[in-house]
Amino acid sequence: MGHTGPMGRLRLTDLRIVNQKIPLFMSNVFNWQLGRDMDYPYDAAFPQQQFAFVFNLNRCIGCQSCTMACKSTWTFSRGQENMWWNNVETKPYGGYPHHWDVKILDLLERANSGGQTWDTKVQSPKGPYGKFNGKTIFEAAKLNVSSEGAQKALGYLPEDEEWSAPNRYEDHPVGSEKGVKGQGFKGGETLPQHKTWFFYLARICNHCSYPACLAACPRNAIYKRPEDGIVLIDQERCRGYRKCLEACPYKKSLYRGTTRTSEKCIACFPRVEGRDQHGGGLPMQTRCMAACIGHIRLQGLVEMNQDGTWKEDRHSPLYYLVHVAKVALPLYPQFGTEPNGYYIPPRWVPRPYLQQMFGPGVDAAVEKYAAPDRELLAVLQLFGKDHRICFRYEIKEGPKVFETEVRGKKFELYNDTIIGYAKDGTKIIETTVEEPLHIRPDKHANSI
Ligand code: SF4
Ligand code: SF4
Ligand code: F3S
Repeated sequence: MGHTGPMGRLRLTDLRIVNQKIPLFMSNVFNWQLGRDMDYPYDAAFPQQQFAFVFNLNRCIGCQSCTMACKSTWTFSRGQENMWWNNVETKPYGGYPHHWDVKILDLLERANSGGQTWDTKVQSPKGPYGKFNGKTIFEAAKLNVSSEGAQKALGYLPEDEEWSAPNRYEDHPVGSEKGVKGQGFKGGETLPQHKTWFFYLARICNHCSYPACLAACPRNAIYKRPEDGIVLIDQERCRGYRKCLEACPYKKSLYRGTTRTSEKCIACFPRVEGRDQHGGGLPMQTRCMAACIGHIRLQGLVEMNQDGTWKEDRHSPLYYLVHVAKVALPLYPQFGTEPNGYYIPPRWVPRPYLQQMFGPGVDAAVEKYAAPDRELLAVLQLFGKDHRICFRYEIKEGPKVFETEVRGKKFELYNDTIIGYAKDGTKIIETTVEEPLHIRPDKHANSI
């Protein structure tokens, strides 16, 4: 099967295959997001660079431009009608497939009742969120042995119905305040937490460092590329066993009835490789990132150490957001796949909900984002500014233009300039913290 799109015709089977050993035992691997070793069916093997991204949920407007950019590029053919590699769901009620996160959280809770907790007293550079004391999907699977044997990862196979209606519950809020018919709310909402709330959660495959889909496939049809950590399904090897769908806790492997194989997000690898004609040979962000109207997305390729932790790279925007400012957090780190998608949590949402979704780093991340310092404000301007991947930034200091208090803390706004560079050092972004204001002259008042 080939994929067609603006990048031309490609065959996934042209790619190299790694991680093709048959797993006999669980290996002991280090998961820095959990601050501890964990079981995984394969030995650890890390790419030189890892495809990763940060989504700022404070900015997502649920417009689905990302969803349609992906669909019109990769999944517009027969058999792919219900296939949404990128989706945007309204939380807490929405989900695609329906209730995917509630279901896997419930399975984990049943496997390890009351034990899915964190010890936040033991933070270190190799465990910045503390230590997870609960069970990952790989560890919990050992407790869930059926007549078919143990699963490689605790999971479930969604019913066909659960893959229908990808945006069910769109814009449905949850809240303690009930409305009165014919009246708007009188009090309004105030930070730090809204009483009635929802938010949009944009999702793609996390190209995990310990992919559950790869671990579970009995055909060894799934592989992680050594050059960029992108996780792909070899369409020639896949026989449609759907163990990948069962195992992926994010439900980002999808079955196609017309080919009887599964497919998933390919991280737009021709763009990441710099093969898109519009990138001038430079690595480009994926279609969903580039199409994002809300400028919530920033993608990168992060340098990895031998032990799977990130190499210190102080002026990489992703390194700064995840490891220095610590405003961007992994999605459900407790699942144990070490996802490479990071989220700046929405600051109006009740903290217990966010803590379950993004782990114990939530409170500090929200506080920091709500009153950002000078560097964070500048780095946030890089989102959505250029289609090429920004590998490095520098900041030129500008004058102070505003001062106020944010919940008792002094906040100062400086009009700094941030400059972003592509892989080869080409300047691709130069923008200021304050957006320039252009006043239309009177003579053009009514013209466009
Ligand atoms: Fe595999 Fe799911 Fe991780 Fe993607 S999100 S790499 S499909 S386990
Ligand atoms: Fe689709 Fe590319 Fe986004 Fe993956 S990265 S969801 S393939 S547009
Ligand atoms: Fe393997 Fe999933 Fe195909 S389990 S055989 S990649 S459907």
